[in-house]
Amino acid sequence: MSDLYAVFGNPIAHSKSPAIHTAFAAATGQDLIYEARLAPVDGFAAAIAAFVAAGGKGANVTVPFKEDAFRLATRLSERAARAGAVNTLAFAGSDIVGDNTDGAGLVRDITVNLGCALAGKRILLLGAGGASRGVIAPLLAEGPAALAIANRTAEKAAALAAAFADVAPVEGGDFGRYAGRSFDVVINATSASLAGDSLPLPSGLFAAGSLAYDMMYGKGETPFLCLAREQGAAHRADGLGMLVEQAAEAFLVWRGVRPATGALLAELRAGLA
Ligand code: ATR
Repeated sequence: MSDLYAVFGNPIAHSKSPAIHTAFAAATGQDLIYEARLAPVDGFAAAIAAFVAAGGKGANVTVPFKEDAFRLATRLSERAARAGAVNTLAFAGSDIVGDNTDGAGLVRDITVNLGCALAGKRILLLGAGGASRGVIAPLLAEGPAALAIANRTAEKAAALAAAFADVAPVEGGDFGRYAGRSFDVVINATSASLAGDSLPLPSGLFAAGSLAYDMMYGKGETPFLCLAREQGAAHRADGLGMLVEQAAEAFLVWRGVRPATGALLAELRAGLA
């Protein structure tokens, strides 16, 4: 019988994860089924319990359940513990192992797919919510020259920066704090693009040859990438590559094999065009 996996979220109907993991399984010759499961907002733990009872081997977790999954896990990877959130669960006997592949997916998309090494670079991360927290440790592990956080609510940026002080010095403040400064990589981890909102970016933020990266993706240019283009960011990328790479990393965690991502990413991008 095929091994069973699923992604849990609410909403979940438009998730690309089943298509991505089904393509990975075909390409690597792994015998598995991967489904999308809608869980009630207050019923995540029960949905997982039923899935495990039905023989589920692993699960991805998306909005709004990443913190629920963090609490449900009986064991956590170091990167999940740092992120305070779980996007990948593996069921091993009575153990629920929680991992977080979002940061690794972001770093791999930037460094491998986009060919932009992060070592020695000045990175500005926009946003101080869960999406931002999840990627900080993997970004720091690349050895940037500096990592700074800008957020609408300055206190949240400062608190998030302080939470990583034992790893490396991280600066935090509101957008205005960075007026007159420039960065090599600016990553949008706010949810502003979801609402179609623009961000109050000070001018001059993008250094020569810099990369603007939006963790969001969708049809057309996000408001952040539009602003980045107008402000002269040389390279711009949306989060579709991160989506595929976090999935590849989860597939590696579950199956011990890393699927190739290039062709699938091109296919998904063509579908969005
Ligand atoms: P997520 O899990 O996606 O990170 P979150 O934890 O609710 O969601 O965090 C949302 C982030 O987007 C926050 O950094 C938020 O800024 P505040 O901390 O000031 O609320 C940011 N954000 C959302 N909408 C925004 C907007 N219109 N302009 C600027 N920042 C916005």
